[in-house]
Amino acid sequence: MPLPGTPRTILGIETSCDETAAAVVRGRTVLSNVIASQHELHAEYQGVVPEIASRAHAERLLPIVRQAVAEAGVTLADIDAVAIGNRPGLIGSLLVGVSGAKALAWSLGKPIVAVDHIHAHLYAGCMGKGSKPVAGGGAALGLVVSGGHTSMYLMRSPTDLTRLGATIDDAIGEAYDKVANILGLGFPGGPMVDRLAQRGDAGLFDFPISRLAPGSLDFSFSGLKTAVLYAHRGVPNSKEPHTVPRAEDVCAGFQRAAVRAITLKLERALEQHPSIRSLLVGGGVSANSHLRQELTAFAAKKKLDLRLPPMDLCLDNAAMIAGLGHEMLAARTPPWTGDELVFSAVASSR
Ligand code: KG4
Ligand code: ZN
Repeated sequence: MPLPGTPRTILGIETSCDETAAAVVRGRTVLSNVIASQHELHAEYQGVVPEIASRAHAERLLPIVRQAVAEAGVTLADIDAVAIGNRPGLIGSLLVGVSGAKALAWSLGKPIVAVDHIHAHLYAGCMGKGSKPVAGGGAALGLVVSGGHTSMYLMRSPTDLTRLGATIDDAIGEAYDKVANILGLGFPGGPMVDRLAQRGDAGLFDFPISRLAPGSLDFSFSGLKTAVLYAHRGVPNSKEPHTVPRAEDVCAGFQRAAVRAITLKLERALEQHPSIRSLLVGGGVSANSHLRQELTAFAAKKKLDLRLPPMDLCLDNAAMIAGLGHEMLAARTPPWTGDELVFSAVASSR
């Protein structure tokens, strides 16, 4: 229950990478969620170009904020607080959002709250129609699977997290994008690999599943990516004749190994932290159909309260920023001052 006097209608802003997003949220209810993707601007480079991203945010931020307010059926005067994703991310992109959010909050005379993008991804599964608070009685395990991050957290509350492990090389979304690049499927490749894999035979390949040291809760995807490269192009200097395999079979084999690497580490985390009762998942790859199926089966087997974000809150969005911002204000996290906020974005932009 929010404390009396807690701001209820929150305008969220998100510009950490290549999505310019604004949303209006009341408590856990999403009133609007507007996302302007820049994929078309970065596609020819097969990755996000920071300078192009910052410029596009600067052009798009205000129209997107206006659209989010209008679609929510409110006016700027109804906004009680502004929440801004201030880290981690690309420094230029963050500064555009932080500066815009500061100016808006100042001109409206409303508080501003700085929200960690990764924590917000983990909150996304607690939002939307009919969402309930996570079951009490134990800690939650948080799993972030995105283009920039693959990590697990022990969560005592939505804002009290301890990192248990993270990727030591590529993030899982990055591996999806690189596999798509190897196979010539376009950028961002995750959704394409997901779609093709549904028509493929995963059993034709025995791709490596990273385990790392016994007990390690870190992840690694670079060996898997190289194995996919060799499967597609052939092993360098091999005398064996090479036949290019069907892309759908490669996608299915890759996806099976990548998702198994995730459930294996979840299994280890549960062994090491038996008080865990809930599993919160977030980030762009939580939209993946095979991962969603496997996590659902895993949670049922382990009797975990699983929170997967609705599809429109998996990828970068501002509703998750506003939702966690509301939670932070309800928990009486003090609003940030403007200077603190800019320094914090600069200091922790990765
Ligand atoms: O969370 P996000 O929007 O950005 C970061 O914070 O990184 O995640 C983007 C990533 C990209 O790598 C994209 O390929 C991946 O999420 N992705 C998917 C799917 N949809 C998006 N990966 C696998 N299957 C999908 N259906
Ligand atoms: Zn993200």
